[in-house]
Amino acid sequence: MAQALAGRDVRIFETPALLAAAAAGEFLRSARDAIATRSRFSVALSGGSTPKATYEEIAGSGAGLEWGKIDVFWSDERCVPLDDRESNFRMAKEALLSRVPIPPGNVHPWETYRPPAEAADAYENRLGLQFGAPLPAFDWIFLGLGEDGHTASLFPGTAGLAETRRPVAAHYVRKLEAWRLTLTLPALNAARECVFLVEGAGKAEAVRKALAGEGDPPASRVRARKVVWMLDRAAATVGVP
Ligand code: 6PG
Repeated sequence: MAQALAGRDVRIFETPALLAAAAAGEFLRSARDAIATRSRFSVALSGGSTPKATYEEIAGSGAGLEWGKIDVFWSDERCVPLDDRESNFRMAKEALLSRVPIPPGNVHPWETYRPPAEAADAYENRLGLQFGAPLPAFDWIFLGLGEDGHTASLFPGTAGLAETRRPVAAHYVRKLEAWRLTLTLPALNAARECVFLVEGAGKAEAVRKALAGEGDPPASRVRARKVVWMLDRAAATVGVP
């Protein structure tokens, strides 16, 4: 059920499984359209746990997709080895990339073996080579939402959240006691489409605040050309009609 909530595209699904199926379907439609009209499709994957089911759905139904014309990046990454259980790359590889015929050269993980600042510089260079511009114009960026209103690794109060020029940032996240690598708001807002996948009652208040802009949470600052919120019913129970 899609609702134009205060100009936003908010879609609510009764269960996480229905959300994953719908998100996968939307992704495949967008990819096919981009490839048909622009010959390429560039996507940034988000991490965490929510998108895993959607990635698995895409793997299961994306057989006919021209994966050779798709470039995969990440909206953020933890500063861990790419085979670490905490790695966003590892989750996406297991759920999706190892199950579709995408050429290895089309997969662009953050180089987490480098020190954080160097990893960010390297990713900025890679994005520049890919997009030929200071800011990447992704066709599609998956995003999640934390209970504190963070998205990607743009946590409240972090240096990267204040970045107004560079497409990437490396910053220490005090609450996690860890360094994170992330696309910045300039990069997210240069995208054709940002799609939030959010599920669970624990996120309902954060969804309400993000949609209302209450407290200026990082997620509320995402203003790409098209921003879609795909929620399960549990995440939409507070203040989302
Ligand atoms: C990460 C993500 C992060 C995530 C949210 C929600 O690296 O953890 O990019 O922004 O999307 O924290 O995580 P869950 O889906 O696990 O709730």
